[in-house]
Amino acid sequence: MRVFLVGMMGSGKSTVGKLLARSLGMGFFDTDEEIERREGKSITQIFKDEGEEYFRKLEKSLLKEILNSDNVVVATGGGVVLDPENRTLLQREKTVFLYASVEALVKRVDPTVRPLIAAGEVEKKLRDIWEKRRHFYMEFPQVNTENLNPMEVVAKVALKVFDEDPIEIPNSVHPVFIGKGIFNRVSREEHVFTTKNVFRIYGDCFPGSAYILPDGEVVKSFDYVRRCYDHLIENDVSKGNTITAVGGGALTDMVGFVAATFKRGIGVRFFPTTLLAQVDAAIGGKNGIDHAGIKNVIGTVRMPDEVMIDPLVLLSLDDERYREGLVELFKMCLLSGRGYETFREKMKEILKRRVDVLQELITVAVEEKLKVVSLDHNDTGIRKILNLGHTVGHVVEVLSGVSHGFAVAVGIDRELRFFVRKGMIEKSLYEEVKEILSRLFESLEMDFSQDRVMKTLLNDKKATADSLIDMPLLLRPGEVSMVKVRPEELAEVIV
Ligand SMILES: NC(=O)c1ccc[n+]([C@@H]2O[C@H](COP(=O)([O-])OP(=O)(O)OC[C@H]3O[C@@H](n4cnc5c(N)ncnc54)[C@H](O)[C@@H]3O)[C@@H](O)[C@H]2O)c1
Repeated sequence: MRVFLVGMMGSGKSTVGKLLARSLGMGFFDTDEEIERREGKSITQIFKDEGEEYFRKLEKSLLKEILNSDNVVVATGGGVVLDPENRTLLQREKTVFLYASVEALVKRVDPTVRPLIAAGEVEKKLRDIWEKRRHFYMEFPQVNTENLNPMEVVAKVALKVFDEDPIEIPNSVHPVFIGKGIFNRVSREEHVFTTKNVFRIYGDCFPGSAYILPDGEVVKSFDYVRRCYDHLIENDVSKGNTITAVGGGALTDMVGFVAATFKRGIGVRFFPTTLLAQVDAAIGGKNGIDHAGIKNVIGTVRMPDEVMIDPLVLLSLDDERYREGLVELFKMCLLSGRGYETFREKMKEILKRRVDVLQELITVAVEEKLKVVSLDHNDTGIRKILNLGHTVGHVVEVLSGVSHGFAVAVGIDRELRFFVRKGMIEKSLYEEVKEILSRLFESLEMDFSQDRVMKTLLNDKKATADSLIDMPLLLRPGEVSMVKVRPEELAEVIV
């Protein structure tokens, strides 16, 4: 595959192109830079010495040359679209136009390095150039780059480029599909619920009728459940209809609950957009809302009709959210043993969000979670092994207010350390896991008082000091059992 980016100077073709190439594991090529390299002088100098026509000839022949390569993302020069033959070539390729208004471009362009924009009157010159080229740019699928950061633009470009057939992830619990570009199908959905930030980035992928809710945990409340019920009644949604949630785990939890309870249950389809939602929250049918300050205290277990996972939307996640999701993904790899080696060997690619590696690992995590769910639909037994890192993680989260994903990472670390102390697992396993976790987070060290830890631990488990806590014991990747531990012993590794 070859991806070409076209657009005005300052539209971000080089920045976005490099990041896109990195995520897709492709080469990157900047035609302006390559011409400068070959000619041994700047574009401005080439224009001065040889004139624009000479430059355009070089550009055209370079474009043709690139068509002999594969697996490359190409940032083209702004004027490449002026030539009809170039446009015909680009039409046959995956070409995306990065749009930014002239007002936005003025702020980004440095006139000293742009031959067509000598200092002064930058805005007028940019506007003239835009007027000459706009019709040509418009011949290509477009991404509006305004109000988006570079990785958000990367995700949107990737969605323009891919249109894979969804692959079904085999399981016996509920249908889950994965594929690059399947997020584009959101536009075909009826009765879509999403959140503000997801809509800000991907708004043009949504049908006009999408119902937009706030981001984050706040939607997991009776207030927003009621608003959703009202919205469904206003829109005559009936028993045979399916509603769709497009967003993170908070949204899929709440909309899943709405679907489970409205008219005693209607269909629901999820397009999870965070890594945590793709590998965990949207999988396995648990839904719920918070109440009286208690998380997930109200909810049901009801399987979604379909879950549609597109790894490309993960490219727009902020780094913290992404790493949080990686912890859950890693947890599934530890529990199942599958994907664990990939984590060890391809950490660099994972941190660079290599989409093919992510797709492979997400598939493993979903399959493995659903294997566990299939043995325990109603969450009364074996499903508890999914709590690896969560017993301690919960205490860390409550006592320090750190993010859930970081708390679970600390939790996995401390729980394994606890079992090493008890002589129940090999120290080398703990060290290997710690090494991986410390590549996700700089430090996992935190201090708490014994007293507060015990209180939280006991309160959470509704246990007394001499009752025992059920915890997953990871013997080695892929081998796990449930054991009972004494709270005060566990507390010693948390403080
Ligand atoms: N039901 C279950 O089995 C289960 C399992 C685990 C967690 N959960 C629940 O999941 C929730 C946490 O989910 P979460 O971590 O997805 O958080 P979230 O739903 O609060 O979303 C986090 C943020 O990410 C943003 N976001 C979402 N997709 C994005 C994208 N593609 N690009 C950029 N930004 C994006 C959102 O706008 C939001 O601001 C918690 O409420 C937790 O209880 C449920």
